[in-house]
Amino acid sequence: MKIGIGSDHGGFALKKNIILYLNQKGYEVIDVGNHSEESVDYPDFADKLCLAIGAGDFECGILICGTGIGMSMVANRHRHIRAALCYESFGARMSREHNNANVLCLGGRMLGAELARDIVQTWLNADFAGGRHQSRIARFC
Ligand code: RB5
Repeated sequence: MKIGIGSDHGGFALKKNIILYLNQKGYEVIDVGNHSEESVDYPDFADKLCLAIGAGDFECGILICGTGIGMSMVANRHRHIRAALCYESFGARMSREHNNANVLCLGGRMLGAELARDIVQTWLNADFAGGRHQSRIARFC
């Protein structure tokens, strides 16, 4: 599975950790930036990742800023994106099963690396349940 990933400076350190983890697990990860600790604007990277999903470059993505909040706000302005901001693993699973989230947002200043890895793996392992949830999603996305 191809996964896109993007961050600003607030999410850069956690992004590097998550890329390492995903590569070890055999996922192909495409990093849309930022590529350093330099201060940047999170909307640039949220837009870049969401447009790439729309273009079919990868099927899902992970966005990381300091809190994950800014990234999720920008990502959800894109009609084809269902971004879920998750600070724990149950919500991450439900965001796939019920909401068919195609972007996971994380807070680099909120989460330890082990919890973040667990959230990411839980999210990737979960599948959309379909059924009644499909028509709900169709109302906004
Ligand atoms: C950057 O300082 C910070 O505002 C950003 O990473 C993010 O937390 C915004 O939602």
